[in-house]
Amino acid sequence: MEHLSVDHLVGIRDLTRQDIELIFKTADSFKEVINRPIKKVPSLRDITIANLFFENSTRTRLSFELAEKRLSADVVNFSASSSSVKKGETLIDTVNNILSMKVDMVVMRHPNPGAAKFLSERTNTRVINAGDGTHEHPTQGLLDAFSIRERLGSVEGKKVVIVGDILHSRVALSNIYTLQKLGAEVMVCGPTTLIPKYIHTLGIKVEHNLRRALEWCDVANMLRIQLERQDIQYFPSLREYSMQYGLNKEILDSLGKEIIVMHPGPINRGVEITSDVADSSQSIILQQVENGVAIRMAVIYLLAAKIGR
Ligand code: CP
Repeated sequence: MEHLSVDHLVGIRDLTRQDIELIFKTADSFKEVINRPIKKVPSLRDITIANLFFENSTRTRLSFELAEKRLSADVVNFSASSSSVKKGETLIDTVNNILSMKVDMVVMRHPNPGAAKFLSERTNTRVINAGDGTHEHPTQGLLDAFSIRERLGSVEGKKVVIVGDILHSRVALSNIYTLQKLGAEVMVCGPTTLIPKYIHTLGIKVEHNLRRALEWCDVANMLRIQLERQDIQYFPSLREYSMQYGLNKEILDSLGKEIIVMHPGPINRGVEITSDVADSSQSIILQQVENGVAIRMAVIYLLAAKIGR
């Protein structure tokens, strides 16, 4: 069996291209499994996984739980809002208490950048980062690139623009690392205030005009404005943002080519994307969600194979 070069999935930055290709190859098999009448394999019958969510989630939490159940793992769920974290318990105490119950793997979403790395260095369980603040969301980066590969045949050489709130987005950084490692050309597009100053160090293009970005790309990944992470006002109003950076059918149809439209969710219809674009044949938003389960099955399966090694 081929193995990942890492013991945890903290960020895409730590992965090699071979790791990503191995995850995709494994996800191809699991995608076939989840489309069968019996969607389950007995691979992880002796593994217990804890899903620790210190921040809200719909897609990622459900997707991980489904992936774990499809692999026949035992699953326990933890949500910070209904836990003793509210009574002042620290992250490491919470996690050590859960691990005392013989948990083999932890999937964690946390508001602080670096939380998954912190945990991976202080426990002897496998850790999967399900989003750490504004840092990384590695399984989202993987499922997005996997969805591009599925629709366009490969990622190598494709032009992908990520549009919107890059500054507060963990999805953007994980997408940039994944796409670059697979040989895609990457651009970010948005108002100057929402593009981080360090962006030029990543070797990607920056464009502030949405039409020019769309004319350049094969794929547009539209990000949500993360109002919950914005401490100051970064643009005059959502209406003005939408007029300059919102993707609508009129712009899409005027491009003279068929680009693919993506969105990691949750969508704010009418802000970064209109309903007719989100629901159009060019949108692969629901395929991204479907692929999320196969990708997470692959990551869990490959990391579980390293337990005890
Ligand atoms: N894409 C994503 O991370 O969605 P959730 O916040 O609902 O998990």
